[in-house]
Amino acid sequence: MFQKGLKDVVAVQTKIAAVEGNKGELRYRGRLVEETIANHSFEETAYFLWTGEFPPDDRSEALKLQFVKYRSLPPYIQMIAEELPREAPLMDKMRTLLSAYYDQEYLSLPPVVQAVALTSALPVMTAMLYRLQKGKEIIAPSNQLGHTANYLWMLNGENPADAQIEALETYLKLTMEHGMNASTFAARVTVSTESDMVAAVTSALGTMKGPLHGGAPSGVISLLEEIGSAERTQSVITRKLEGGEKIMGFGHRIYRTEDPRSILLRRKCLELQGSDPWLDLAVDAEKQITQLLNERKPGRALYTNVEFYAAAIMRSIEMPPELFTPTFSIARIVGWTAHVIEQQADNVIFRPQSEYVGN
Ligand code: COA
Repeated sequence: MFQKGLKDVVAVQTKIAAVEGNKGELRYRGRLVEETIANHSFEETAYFLWTGEFPPDDRSEALKLQFVKYRSLPPYIQMIAEELPREAPLMDKMRTLLSAYYDQEYLSLPPVVQAVALTSALPVMTAMLYRLQKGKEIIAPSNQLGHTANYLWMLNGENPADAQIEALETYLKLTMEHGMNASTFAARVTVSTESDMVAAVTSALGTMKGPLHGGAPSGVISLLEEIGSAERTQSVITRKLEGGEKIMGFGHRIYRTEDPRSILLRRKCLELQGSDPWLDLAVDAEKQITQLLNERKPGRALYTNVEFYAAAIMRSIEMPPELFTPTFSIARIVGWTAHVIEQQADNVIFRPQSEYVGN
């Protein structure tokens, strides 16, 4: 049977995450995402996705140190980064650097440690490439900071504020994993040939670059910029809807209720409200746009998707738009590597058929 794009075809059975579109639920390892991420760091949440358990209290510090250890990259990585064309897109350069990751010891490490190493290395590479692109000096990783704070530190060379770290970490934890999306599938297909985790993540990064997968939040930024102030929302949105345009950051293929990730990101925005006019505009715009969509498209259940508040949060922490997809990848590498581990544990090579329809 031929199914274009494998739509609705179940290609994998997984214990990592469940996306329940009708109920508006996302579960990591059987637990609601909101419960899973509360009171757990990026490192602990990643470990939970990889293993199904949180590290015991006395292992949490060791896990953090393991992440710190793998922030140190071999010197040849920086040499390659310096040779890459400045104007090339960051996602291309991240794919190249990650694919060059090699360490004699690496392939003999347990899979979860391999996952820690790559998850820890990717933001270091990204910050290095970003600073080179801007003609700025590379900042060395900090041994004191957690995963998220270190990323901000290496990007900006300043100690990030707690609110900034928390906002970004909430986004990263919520977008680590989302079932069988295109990049995750690419990672699983690659490793199913008994290739390795570096190759699988390289495939996934190539897949993530496409605008149909990793590239939507900048559309929300343009929308909010066009709205500009709360009293303009109604006229801007009405004009767009009358012209048949889709409103960026609203609607979802799977969720028929509110996207649970959007609810949590909105909560974070509300906590930060008053600290940034962008967040205030986003919170107000959501209310007005949801109402307008409901009036114009009754019964379609159109709500904000994860991109809407992700964009607001990124903007409020002054993350430049060219870093949106790279930052999404820094989160999703956890899901990719979790799926690689699951695939390796019970592997069958992906080998679908093609149907010849030529002459
Ligand atoms: N703005 C206005 N109308 C929208 C809309 C939006 N953002 N999203 C869906 N609709 C409309 C559709 O045009 C359709 O109208 P119709 O019944 O009159 O033909 C109706 O709502 C139902 O659409 P639905 O089947 O629920 O959505 P879809 O599966 O066709 O599209 C998306 C899903 C995500 C592609 C779509 O919602 C979209 O383009 N959103 C904006 C882009 C975006 O935010 N992308 C990031 C996704 S994470």
